[in-house]
Amino acid sequence: MKRIITQAAFGAISIVVSASSAFASDDMVALLRRMTLEEKVGQLVQMSSNDLTGPDKGQGGIDEKLDFIRKGQVGAVVNIASPDKVNRLQNVALRESRLGIPLLFGFDVVHGLHTTFPIPLAESCSWDLELMQATAAAAARESYNAGVRWVYAPMVDVSRDARWGRVAEGAGEDPYLGSLIAAARVKGFQTIEAGRVGKVLATVKHFAAYGAPEAGRDYAGVDISESTLRNVYLPPFRAAIEAGAASLMSAFHEISGVPCTANPHLLDEILRKEWGWKGFVVSDWGAVDELRTHGFASSVEAATQKAMRAGTDIDMCSGAYNASLAALVKNKRLDVASLDRAVLRVLEGKKAAGLFAQPLATQNNEDWPQHKPLAMRAALESIVLLKNEGNLLPLAKTTKRIAVIGPFAETKLEALGSWWALGRKEDVVTLAAGIRSLVAPGTEVRVALGTDFRGKTKNIEDAAALAKWSDIVVLSLGDPGWNTGENNSKVSLDLSLPQQELVRAVKATRKPVVVVLTNGGPLSITSEVDSFSAVVEAWALGQAAGTAIAQVLFGEHNPSGKLTITFPRHVGQVPIYHAHKNSGRPPTQPGGSHYTDSPSDPLFVFGHGLSYTTFAYENLRINPTEPKIGQTVTVEATVTNTGKRAGVEVAQLYVQDEVGSLTRPVRELKGFERVSLEPGASHRLRFTLTAQHLGYFDNAGRFLVEPGWFKAFVGTDSNASLTGRFELKQTR
Ligand code: GLC
Repeated sequence: MKRIITQAAFGAISIVVSASSAFASDDMVALLRRMTLEEKVGQLVQMSSNDLTGPDKGQGGIDEKLDFIRKGQVGAVVNIASPDKVNRLQNVALRESRLGIPLLFGFDVVHGLHTTFPIPLAESCSWDLELMQATAAAAARESYNAGVRWVYAPMVDVSRDARWGRVAEGAGEDPYLGSLIAAARVKGFQTIEAGRVGKVLATVKHFAAYGAPEAGRDYAGVDISESTLRNVYLPPFRAAIEAGAASLMSAFHEISGVPCTANPHLLDEILRKEWGWKGFVVSDWGAVDELRTHGFASSVEAATQKAMRAGTDIDMCSGAYNASLAALVKNKRLDVASLDRAVLRVLEGKKAAGLFAQPLATQNNEDWPQHKPLAMRAALESIVLLKNEGNLLPLAKTTKRIAVIGPFAETKLEALGSWWALGRKEDVVTLAAGIRSLVAPGTEVRVALGTDFRGKTKNIEDAAALAKWSDIVVLSLGDPGWNTGENNSKVSLDLSLPQQELVRAVKATRKPVVVVLTNGGPLSITSEVDSFSAVVEAWALGQAAGTAIAQVLFGEHNPSGKLTITFPRHVGQVPIYHAHKNSGRPPTQPGGSHYTDSPSDPLFVFGHGLSYTTFAYENLRINPTEPKIGQTVTVEATVTNTGKRAGVEVAQLYVQDEVGSLTRPVRELKGFERVSLEPGASHRLRFTLTAQHLGYFDNAGRFLVEPGWFKAFVGTDSNASLTGRFELKQTR
């Protein structure tokens, strides 16, 4: 029996004295002392490729705007990731500015630079922390080579609202899992590679609670309690900080009336004073000047003053800092100490990135064949088998006639997700090509799109005719990558209307159908799930998409993905998630809360994911059953592969604090273990719970661990029913 063990023990929340705790090194302090006021301001200004090189005229021409660099008025650049362009700008900074301080080049390397991995939400469904660290490290390897020493990732925003398009970029709805993934990705991005000077700097974003916008609409305000902020939205940020994240991005929105970019509670009280973090904060694009649009600052000067005082160190592309920061300091409306502190944080970051020792991009390779196997593995492990009635899957490779129907049957760009960076759609293996590559010689595979996503090119009749011709239909539906992500929120989670028309036509043929979803977040595919036997959630899997999906469809790979975000039956249920409160009249009890037009439970719960084998759980044991506060509690159970083929199971542990000074969720994820089991084999699971797992923050920001009864649930998803109880006792 071979076991893949990823025992996810939630690290005790303690301030890990990070490498940058010796905040300012002598050489950087000495450099600061040589800087003029204008040069200090320059280090806090970020400009875009457009600001510095004009609209890219194709020949990569760089116009006179480079004077900003010559005068030391810019310290960081966003959206340049070609080594020769990086080096041309860098050499201007090194050779033509007075102090020769290197520029820091940043780019949105969210799920790969040249090699495109699955979108982060997809990868989170692998629950494989080692995998997610490895793909981040690969992305950073490619970035460093391209001259990008600063990536705007990982995005760690917990979200329970699938209307918000940016769920695609995160790790789903759970703070515990999201914290472990945040730490893994930070460690991956900031890997110190042998033979390299410095490292790529990660940016944990978007601080904070960006995933809870009013009505699911991007950039809209967030209004949550302090306890919800601290128990749900902050943990992944803290985990990223403890993993050594070098930078953090403040978010666009406001929390309870105070925009994040000028929010002292977030940026100073929590980030600096409570957590002791020494890295640098960059605003999101234009967010400093947007303080005026928020109605939080009456002028650019006021916006600059508020953002700097709160602790936003770099102004990303709003123009506010380079327009007004020097004057504020001269007029004593901003003290030099806060300016110097911000500049030192940035200089330390540049030093950690190796820019003073090795400022130039060294290679220009765009092909990374060594990353292809990893892209394939990530795609395979991200796939979630949602339904498989009558074991329709896996398909036989000798099936005579296979119809691949739907707008994503031969999709390339759409499989790259919402942040495809420099990924090339030419590198994407389509679903149809993946299927063709695996079937037997006598099998005929035909394709009919039936419609595109918006219905501009519709030919439903041909698609229906092809379905009638076939022995089995692979129906490829979903939501294209360019329709997900930033500022792509939705009021409906249904499939587009042309796709719904196609579904009805294919259903009418009464052929066996496997639905394959290409999407960036939960869809309310209730009728499709009811209509067809098998449903595979394939997300936007990146360049290996078609090959990976085909290997799952034909059983070469046994799927092991588990949902990290709840699928609603209807958008009207949103926000809907596993760690919800019970209320005084839960839907589960007679006369409890309910909808008149829909069941209250979700379509697919958090943690759901099927396999081509089956697993059983038994023999749960808790020790001790009356632990004292501060004592470690172990929860054990046995998982067995009760099917006929090997498989990987993500066994999950949930805990409920039955009574608290604040009401507590009906259950919360507090452990998981990825286990590979041969048929008939068993594994004894062992989870450890510490005070950090059992406690919670109250509305005064205090972390409470309270005596009383707790339930533990172990199983295959958040409906786990193998249960035990223990009573946490006061220490005497
Ligand atoms: C965008 C996004 C942020 C990204 C930044 C730079 O608006 O909100 O995630 O890193 O700007 O592109």
